[in-house]
Amino acid sequence: MEKPSTVAAVDVQALERAALGAIDAADSPDALDAARVRYLGRRSELKQALRGVRDRESGMALNTLRTRLEAALDAKQAELDRPRADPTFDPTLPGVELARGSLHPLTQLRRRIEDVFIGMGYEIFDGREVDTVYYNFEALNTPEAHPSRDPQDTFYIDGNTVLRTHTSPSQIRAMEAHEPPVYVASLGRVYRRDTIDATHTPVFHQVEALAVDRSITLADLRGTMQAFATAIFGGRREIRMRTSFFPFTEPSVEFDMTCYVCDGPGCAVCKYSGWIEMGGAGEVDPAVLEAVGYDPAEWQGFAWGLGIDRIASERHGVPDLRLYWENDIRFLSQF
Ligand code: DAH
Repeated sequence: MEKPSTVAAVDVQALERAALGAIDAADSPDALDAARVRYLGRRSELKQALRGVRDRESGMALNTLRTRLEAALDAKQAELDRPRADPTFDPTLPGVELARGSLHPLTQLRRRIEDVFIGMGYEIFDGREVDTVYYNFEALNTPEAHPSRDPQDTFYIDGNTVLRTHTSPSQIRAMEAHEPPVYVASLGRVYRRDTIDATHTPVFHQVEALAVDRSITLADLRGTMQAFATAIFGGRREIRMRTSFFPFTEPSVEFDMTCYVCDGPGCAVCKYSGWIEMGGAGEVDPAVLEAVGYDPAEWQGFAWGLGIDRIASERHGVPDLRLYWENDIRFLSQF
């Protein structure tokens, strides 16, 4: 039998045995903490002996014991921290499927429209949602007395700044940023003071197209619209133009396409007319070209703009524009 080494009135081996036993027996973090306090705490036998130690040999023996106990505590702690296999867990059961998100239907259509324009060689140009009266109205040849300028219809930030009421100011900014020829499309939010109902929201989306080149005619406008409508709606869409008026185009037209559901004879989607209204367009007014310093004798252009929300609704049969804003997952998950 080995002679017990007794240091400063402490039986080191007995203490080690007792401490290791307690650490080993600890079956919970609380029990382990209790053992830690008991054997390594400030008032533990070991710490008190360390404080009272006078000779080197005793000091070394006590320090070795402390190191061993700390290692044992750490090992036990790691063991307790390790997740234990739950005997009631059945790894062969199917997992819980996580719901997958999707892009908002308006984002999907917007991206599709951008792709079509890029395919036709257009650049996508980002305009500004907050713009000046100059860009939103004046440079677009809209007279001061025009009803669209009325604060009843337009959100004014101050006397000179508005939330854009259409994407047409992008035409001006794009032309200012480029030398002609220019082929740009601009998409985004526009704002109008409207009372919210099934067919009106004060924020909605438009796409604007602008082409400026030498000898651009209405025939180019029609051809581009037809290519666009066919790409977005499929089949072969025909375009119809009706004379209209916009301050920034001359001549101005509104354009329709043949119904993509019935292809002509009439159905509920086209309200039995065979045609679906698309938007406004025309040849860029010379005054607009002059506003950006283009010479109208050399350059001509066409422009058109249309609402994206309405097109999405027609495509998907969405009866109420408010659905786009409510973010109800039951609605959104259908796209
Ligand atoms: N900006 C017009 C609107 O919001 C739509 C429009 C009409 C755009 C004719 C055009 C255009 O580019 O040529 O009602």
